[in-house]
Amino acid sequence: MKESHRVQLAVVSHPGEVGAVDADVLAIPVMSGAQSDSALTQVDPRAARFVASGEHTGCLHEVLLLPAGEGLGSPRILLYGLGAAADLDGSRLRFAHQEMVRTAREFGHGRIAVLRAGALRNSDVGAVIEGCVAGSWDRRGRSTGRHPAPLTALTLVGFGDAPDAVVDVSRRLGEATARAREWQNAPANELGPNQLEAIAREMADRLGLDCETLGAEALRAGGYNLLAAVGAASEQEPRLIRLTYRGAAKDERNLALIGKGITFDSGGLSLKSADWMVKMRGDMGGAAAVLAAIEVVAESGLAINVMAVIAAAENLPGRGAQRPGDVWTSASGKTVEVLNTDAEGRLVLADAATYAIRSGATHLVDLATLTSDARAALGHAASAAVSNDDRLWGLVAAAGEAAGDRVWRLPIYPDFRPLIQSQSADLKNADYGEAGVITAAMFIGEFVEGRPWVHLDIAGSHWNENQQHKDIPRGPLGAGTRLCYRLAELMAAQSNGGDSHAVR
Ligand code: BES
Ligand code: ZN
Ligand code: MN
Repeated sequence: MKESHRVQLAVVSHPGEVGAVDADVLAIPVMSGAQSDSALTQVDPRAARFVASGEHTGCLHEVLLLPAGEGLGSPRILLYGLGAAADLDGSRLRFAHQEMVRTAREFGHGRIAVLRAGALRNSDVGAVIEGCVAGSWDRRGRSTGRHPAPLTALTLVGFGDAPDAVVDVSRRLGEATARAREWQNAPANELGPNQLEAIAREMADRLGLDCETLGAEALRAGGYNLLAAVGAASEQEPRLIRLTYRGAAKDERNLALIGKGITFDSGGLSLKSADWMVKMRGDMGGAAAVLAAIEVVAESGLAINVMAVIAAAENLPGRGAQRPGDVWTSASGKTVEVLNTDAEGRLVLADAATYAIRSGATHLVDLATLTSDARAALGHAASAAVSNDDRLWGLVAAAGEAAGDRVWRLPIYPDFRPLIQSQSADLKNADYGEAGVITAAMFIGEFVEGRPWVHLDIAGSHWNENQQHKDIPRGPLGAGTRLCYRLAELMAAQSNGGDSHAVR
């Protein structure tokens, strides 16, 4: 897989120094509804007139490339829209910068300076870096045609004294987002369970993490029959993959980030339609997020124990495939009737949760492209959350806020409990009749043994393909990546500060 290059990153604290900044383009944000902006007027009064005249209205992702006036180190100005200030949350802020960088690169410019103007504050520096660096990713990496210029240098101007730690972590989170998107985007003939394992092993070697993997034989021996059954018809063995980072004492809290790693989901014998199936190379978006996140956790040396657990398999029909109606005993001992082989995500995550608990997990967060209902409910705009623990959920919500990675919680009502029960086993994996996001989550919740747990259904948020959006990037979005890192960071801060509200 292609390795991205490192972007040269600099922060210039004072806006007055903009004249000396050497770049291909100086990017300046414009808010919608704002007729003038003092930062813009000072830098280039002529460019400011294009805003005053309404030739750039400041809509999110509107761009205007102009020759720069006298006295600037960059020959061009790129005006880019941020939309209305009141609408500007962390998600829109990052997407706006991602798209601004992509557009500049399409124009052939890879050395970009960003001036703090409009509604941007000094404290937005991290979000701006994350967005810009994520914009260095090239979705068409496999095309032999012309590629946009690589992003080689990024200079942030006028953001005050941004601490190095903020700049470093934000750069890493931008890179991690891009990496997750690249893995999501990789076609299933390139990225199968074998490749997911190779990615984890390479990361473990590079960062000194523990890496354990269970292949088909070890899965059978350990009783992980649900995962084994889902992956049974593939040429590549299913796997449980665990990467362990130890940043705290052994008896401390141990956060498991569990990712659904179905590298292709045909539906199995309950075959998907062609229209749905074509989207399914991204069904490992949860695995991509937890892999990308634990890398940043390890690089940053957070004072907390974190494991990334990936349930990797390819869900195919064929010789050895499980049948609708099959009943399996899960690793936890609970029996499961498989009524629909296309509801495979909850099966593999159930066994992955047991594996995480056997590996010492005290807190569980799973990320999964689990249900088309999540997509119907929230679209691309947020991940659907379901949780059994208000305190852990509170941290996940705060992490999402800090990361510009939206989450929206749905309730567990006891009324739904009978829906996941089977006539011939403990649980069934489909045919619940209603509340698809919640009931699928509740199935997974049966395997967390009462531990604090948050489920994030990223089936909508992991990928945008609604062509009607002008302001959301198309394709894989890397949802959950930054949230996972910020969650680990928040939990680490709690143990350090001895916070009495710390999640236990
Ligand atoms: N991977 C799919 C869910 C999905 C749908 C992800 C669309 C991304 C975009 C999942 O394995 C699945 O097939 N879910 C079924 C479950 C049903 C058979 C109970 C669904 O939601 O339709
Ligand atoms: Zn799936
Ligand atoms: Mn499926």
